[in-house]
Amino acid sequence: MTFTFKTLILLCYCSFLALSTPSYPKEALPTKHGYLPISPTSTSSIFYAFYEAQNSTLPLSQTPLLIWLQGGPGCSSMIGNLYELGPWRVTQSLTLQRNPGSWNRIFGLLFLDSPIGSGFSVAATPQEIPKDQNAVAEHLFAAITRFLQLHPVFKYRPIYVTGESYAGKYVPAIGYYILKKNANLGVSERVNLAGVAIGDGLTDPETQVATHALNAYYVGLINERQKNELEKAQLEAVRLTQMGNWSEATDARNEVLALLEQMTGLPTLYDYTRKVPYEDDLVEKFLNIAEVKKTLGVNESFVYEICSAVVDAALHADVMKSVKYMVEYLVRNSRVLLYQGEYDLRDGVVQTEVWVKTMKWEGIEEFLNAERVIWKVNGEVAGYVQKWKSLTNVVVLGAGHLLPTDQPVNSQAMIEDWVLERGLFRNVSIELLCDVVAPPYGPPEPFPTTAMDLVPLVVEPDISEALYASFGEPTPEEGVGFKLEFILAES
Ligand SMILES: *[C@@H]1O[C@H](CO)[C@@H](O)[C@H](O)[C@H]1NC(C)=O
Ligand SMILES: *[C@@H]1O[C@H](CO)[C@@H](O)[C@H](O)[C@H]1NC(C)=O
Ligand SMILES: *[C@@H]1O[C@H](CO)[C@@H](O)[C@H](O)[C@H]1NC(C)=O
Ligand SMILES: *[C@@H]1O[C@H](CO)[C@@H](O)[C@H](O)[C@H]1NC(C)=O
Repeated sequence: MTFTFKTLILLCYCSFLALSTPSYPKEALPTKHGYLPISPTSTSSIFYAFYEAQNSTLPLSQTPLLIWLQGGPGCSSMIGNLYELGPWRVTQSLTLQRNPGSWNRIFGLLFLDSPIGSGFSVAATPQEIPKDQNAVAEHLFAAITRFLQLHPVFKYRPIYVTGESYAGKYVPAIGYYILKKNANLGVSERVNLAGVAIGDGLTDPETQVATHALNAYYVGLINERQKNELEKAQLEAVRLTQMGNWSEATDARNEVLALLEQMTGLPTLYDYTRKVPYEDDLVEKFLNIAEVKKTLGVNESFVYEICSAVVDAALHADVMKSVKYMVEYLVRNSRVLLYQGEYDLRDGVVQTEVWVKTMKWEGIEEFLNAERVIWKVNGEVAGYVQKWKSLTNVVVLGAGHLLPTDQPVNSQAMIEDWVLERGLFRNVSIELLCDVVAPPYGPPEPFPTTAMDLVPLVVEPDISEALYASFGEPTPEEGVGFKLEFILAES
């Protein structure tokens, strides 16, 4: 009933906008977009939007490549693209506006609508939609390797897989899959995974679900009686998880969150300071404009949804299954960044700390005892960084679950410094760094925290301009074709 009504309004709204909105601004178009197959025997495919680095200081063939995965299960990475960390964000009036905190300033940025069935991605049959993390990773691996074949310039670039929320499961899953797969591949066939980053993630649900009552109680949102009631509900979710009664365990977790919402009356648990929920539905409105779909080479009859109920249902029994062992493997064989917004009540600071401290990894004691260093961006406190060798955890102030939406510039500084191992994200102990840089008298120099603080940007010809200039109008076949019609200018 409500769905039909909402759809009707949306349709009217969109037809109106289709008349009044000019096409997708050319300068905002992805460098490359289209569909990547998930297997040679299926017509299912993963939609992608790729933005080349705007101002890379390295040759493109060495410029890191970030992959972004949205959560859900079943939400589209176009939320990340057009509402969080992409170079252009959709406004209230459904136009696009440059994002000053885009994650593709100095890195290539690839958004994948995964699993199939989410966003613009196509599931040939409902049965093909993944029901577990191995299937998700298998599809992603096929799509990523296909993407890397699109142009030689992609082949050896260091790859960082990033994502948010339920991607706290996908990111470790694909990272783990890549490392295992690489072991059996020749050097030239490997995927050059350099690290993984999880924002406000669900990774070890059993420990995470048990934290909401205490978290809300000490924030002051519920009283002791409510805390006890919530704890009972949490215990039930834990019990069902331990029994391996997966589907009911997911229901029980949803119950916990519904109860917390009811008790607090908050418009969203994603950010307890918000008076209204995040407006990521703007992305859905924008991407359903006929002209926009046409420009992106998507069938105009395709109804785009920011989150797919079908994909969510397919993964329902997967929700409470832990991927912590995959993170343990990744932290030994790669680099791992965890980051959370301080206001997130669902998969925030408390929900992350609780599982991290149970990690089986030889560095965990050192990590837990490492100093939590005050992190500043442009002279202001941006949050806290705790790091030991390959594991880094960041708490970002003034942010909720959709962290790059709330703190675009700080999230950009964080990802750039982590990838490039700069500032607080480098491999030396902070005490050592203090001894080296502190002047003999007077206050110590502030640590360089952003790329800008450290090295002046190398001024290069604007690579992306050249790319956009050579970007032709997409043809309807582009969705399934892989002919490369853009030329990457090597610097
Ligand atoms: C899971 O829980 C439901 C509801 O409590 C129960 O009916 C069912 O038998 C349980 N299944 C298993 C495998 O324990
Ligand atoms: C678009 O989708 C409709 C309905 O699924 C289908 O009939 C039509 O052939 C599609 N058009 C193209 C160009 O793929
Ligand atoms: C920093 O340490 C991590 C983990 O020990 C390692 O993977 C990485 O290569 C190191 N970076 C540098 C620049 O030495
Ligand atoms: C890229 O560099 C150009 C030239 O230095 C500058 O005008 C532009 O603002 C830079 N863009 C970004 C996103 O940093």
